[in-house]
Parts: sequence; structure tokens; C-alpha cells
Amino acid sequence: MAVMWIQIILLLAACLLPLSAEAMVRHYKFNVVMKNSTRLCSTKPIVTINGKFPGPTIYAREDDTVLVKVVNHVKYNVSIHWHGVRQLRTGWADGPAYITQCPIQPGQVYVYNFTLTGQRGTLLWHAHILWLRATVHGALVIMPKLGVPYPFPRPHMEQVIVLGEWWKSDTEAVINEALKSGLAPNVSDAHTINGHPGPVKNCAEGGFKFQVEPGKNHLLRIINAALNEDLFFKIAGHQLTVVEIDATYTKPFNTDTIVIAPGQTTNVLLKANHASGKYLVASSTFMDAPIAFDNMTATAMLHYTNTLGSTITTLTSLPPQNATPTADNFTDSLRSLNSKEYPARVPKKVDHSLFFTISLGVNPCASCVSGSRVVAAINNVTFVMPKISSLLQAHFFKKSGIFTDDFPGKPPVMYDFTGKQQPANMRTNRGTRVYRLAYNSTVQLVLQDTGMIAPENHPIHLHGFNFFVVGRGKGNYNPKKDTRKFNLVDPVERNTVGVPSGGWTAIRFRADNPGVWFMHCHLEVHTTWGLKMAFVVDNGKGPNESLLPPPSDLPKC
Ligand code: C2O
Repeated sequence: MAVMWIQIILLLAACLLPLSAEAMVRHYKFNVVMKNSTRLCSTKPIVTINGKFPGPTIYAREDDTVLVKVVNHVKYNVSIHWHGVRQLRTGWADGPAYITQCPIQPGQVYVYNFTLTGQRGTLLWHAHILWLRATVHGALVIMPKLGVPYPFPRPHMEQVIVLGEWWKSDTEAVINEALKSGLAPNVSDAHTINGHPGPVKNCAEGGFKFQVEPGKNHLLRIINAALNEDLFFKIAGHQLTVVEIDATYTKPFNTDTIVIAPGQTTNVLLKANHASGKYLVASSTFMDAPIAFDNMTATAMLHYTNTLGSTITTLTSLPPQNATPTADNFTDSLRSLNSKEYPARVPKKVDHSLFFTISLGVNPCASCVSGSRVVAAINNVTFVMPKISSLLQAHFFKKSGIFTDDFPGKPPVMYDFTGKQQPANMRTNRGTRVYRLAYNSTVQLVLQDTGMIAPENHPIHLHGFNFFVVGRGKGNYNPKKDTRKFNLVDPVERNTVGVPSGGWTAIRFRADNPGVWFMHCHLEVHTTWGLKMAFVVDNGKGPNESLLPPPSDLPKC
């Protein structure tokens, strides 16, 4: 009898649990392990999480706390970043090595502990040290709170789609070679969709397949986890309705082509409006600058459930790699949903008006092949990573000598940044300099591309915040003319924004998260070259306005 009662009570508890609107604690274990992989018909060992490529998807709901225990079983130092998670007061769990933590050394363990406050949608996680994120990455899906619907038709099914890049050789060797020579690293050998390139020349390997139900709506959670390539994404015979980017809802719009930069996410509704069939899915590079790129197209296959035949509908056209109008068209269509439930809280008044130039440069290097090395800079500062402490530890424990807070708010010299005539001297200054912000101050940041070496599209990612993209244009930013055209009503809100090749982008955010927050180009090659900086946000005065103390297992340098 007692046993029966216990069974009934357990049953009741099990039924009641999922209905509770209480936030949950989600536990994940990430074992960092080597795994042999056979992409492109050749075998190489790669660094993975739990032996998977892409790594496991983390599922949680808004307000949940996520605990990820990372155990490092490989020979490399490791750290994991939860890209786009705001980490309110929990910078210790943000993950960029030497910025918010020392790396997790071989044999060591660290538990990332963070709460998903005020966010829902698709994000990604990835290694944030060296070039390990080439294979160490995965999806982070934040469902709305229980009982809260999506602001769009409920999809019949959801599918995570992680876009990546694949090198035949070891990616750590690729970047180390490049750093030794001072030259650009090799471009990748293929693109991937959920880990598979699909059949390519000399390798007939099958690609990723997924099923759709005729007549139904499907939600695709698309993530660009590539290291160095902006990508186009397209599905033969289907329109896509964009409903969310970087875990913020957008006004829905239809398109047949998505453009997505490394670090960005795009949720689309796919209406399966055919009766049956197989349709090709493709991912290829968007590059509108004279720079070497990987010209391979990754393919996957969309199957209708009741399809018997084997005919495949292929794409009649793929955008050429330099299809700037296609990319602009997509970017210009993005607007915040800005509804009553999800308002766009754009800062109207600006405390810090910053102007940052983005450029490549050339510095002397005695040991390099041509006596010089390619570098990159913001306002001519090539950022140097600290080695003996993270910036966050130096900030929290008030340790001097690690960084200075004199990062320049404007470039050292004003010139025609996007003109033909670029400065002959392309030398940059090296430094570990940060920009300091008072708690709750507001920032307008204009990011200006330059023609130094070559103009290029730079996806700039800010940790710890979402920002609003209030303006964007070609050529040089003109404060008088361009400011008047800013969208302060429903600009798109995101964490990674493309600064167009030979143009500028303006963003605004509120510094309401105390800590040290990395900002960098999400093309990994540019981060390596120094296209990065950090903001220090001081504590506020209120009870919930200061950085929490570090966890006891925070790795040591
Ligand atoms: Cu997704 Cu600092 O990176």
C-alpha cells in the first residue's frame, strides 16, 4: 500500500513539475576531448566537446540558471564563451581567455554558472582561446518562459542549423604558421552545415538531411559558427520568414537568402509549401573585398516526409560571393519587433560619443618572412592580451600593471578613411588599453571601416550587452548628415554587427552591466591580429549594480 502511495505521489510530482513556471537549474557536462574526424574523406583529430562536431545543443528557458562543468582532457588551454548571453553581474562566466578568466588548463575543471535573464532565442557557445572554436562550438537555445508563446505562428517543428568552416589540416597549426611568417593564414577547405560539407569534388560524402511536414511551419535556428567567413544561406524552392536574430525578435519579413556573419544567429520560419520532394540547402561565402576566401559551397538536403522519388530540386542560382546588394537588402530589412511585450529601449541621450576606426596594418617583425607582419587595430591600437591575469581579475582586485584605461575615443588622425589615398605608414601602437564607463551611462559608437591594406566587412561583437544598430552607410561617417537619419524607434537589437566594407555602422547601448567586456571582430583571423579592445563598466551604487565576487573554482593563470 505504502509503495503504491509513493508511486502515486511520484507520478503526481512528475506531472506537476513541467507545469511549474519556476525557473530551473540546467546541468550540463562538457568533456573537452580529442576525436578523430573524417570530413572531406580524410581523417584528422579535432578538439571537441563530448566527441561531437558541432558540439551539444544547450536547451534552457528564459530565467533558468545554467551550470556547465567543463573538464579539460586535451593538451590545449581551453575556455568557453556563451556568445550573446548578457551575463548580468556574472562576467566570471563570460569565457574569453585572459579577458574574464584565465584559461582552464589541461586536467583542470571550471563550472560556468549563469542565469538567462530577459533573453530568449538562439545563441551559440564556442571556445574563446586560440583558434579552437573552429571545432569547439554549438547552439544555445533559450525557450520563452513556460506559457509564453512566440510572437509568431507556433512552429510544428524546430531545427538547429550550425554553419561552419573546415580545414583539412589542424587549425592550430594553420594560425601558428601564419603568426610565424607574419602573413595571412590559409583559408578553409570547405564549409559545413551541421558538421557536413555535403558532396564536394573528389569526396562523395553525404550531407546533413532534415525532414519537413507538408503544409506546416518549421522554425530554423541558423547559427554562423565559421571562423572567418560571412555566409549566404538559401533553400531551393522556399521563402524564409525572418523572425528573430541574436536572440531578439524582429518584425517578420520574407526573403529567399539569408546573410549571416560569424557570431550571428538568425531564426526563420520555413513554410513547407510543396506536397513532397527533396530540396537543396546551401551555404556559401559572402565576400565583397579583394581578399582570399573559401569558395566551396556546403550543401544539405531538406526532405518532405512523404517523398518516395529521388529527384532533387537544386538551386537555380546562388548569390555570387560579391553580392553586396543581396546582403544590403537583407541587412536593411531588419527591424526590432518593438511590441508592447518586447519594446526597443533605444538610449535617446548619449553620454559617450565614440568613433572607432577599424583597420589592418603592418608592423616590423625581424623573424617574419618579409620583415613585417600583418596586424589589425581599432583607433590604431593593436590590442595585446595580458598573460598573467585576466582583465576582470585585475579590475576586481584592483591589480595595477595589467591594463590602462586610456583607450582613445577617437582615431589619432582624421583622414579620408575610405578614400584611395591611405597613409603610407601603416604601423600601429600596441597596448592593453580599455575604455572606462560609469554604470548606466549610455554609449553611441560609430564603427568606421578603412581602406588600410583593404576595406572589408567586419562583424564586430560586443560581450555583455545587446546594442541597437541605429545607422549604417557607405564611405565616411558624416556626423552632421548621418545622425539625422538614425533610427531611434525600431532599430534592430543584436550582439554582433557587420561594419560594411568601406562603410560605417552606428550602435547604441546602455552600460548597465558592471564588469570587463570584450569587443572584437568575430573574424578570428582579425581578432588574432589585434582587432579587439575592452570596456570596463564600473559598479553602480544600488544593491544589484555591482559585479559579483569570483567563484572559488575560477582558473588560475
Ligand atoms: Cu563569439 Cu568574443 O566571441
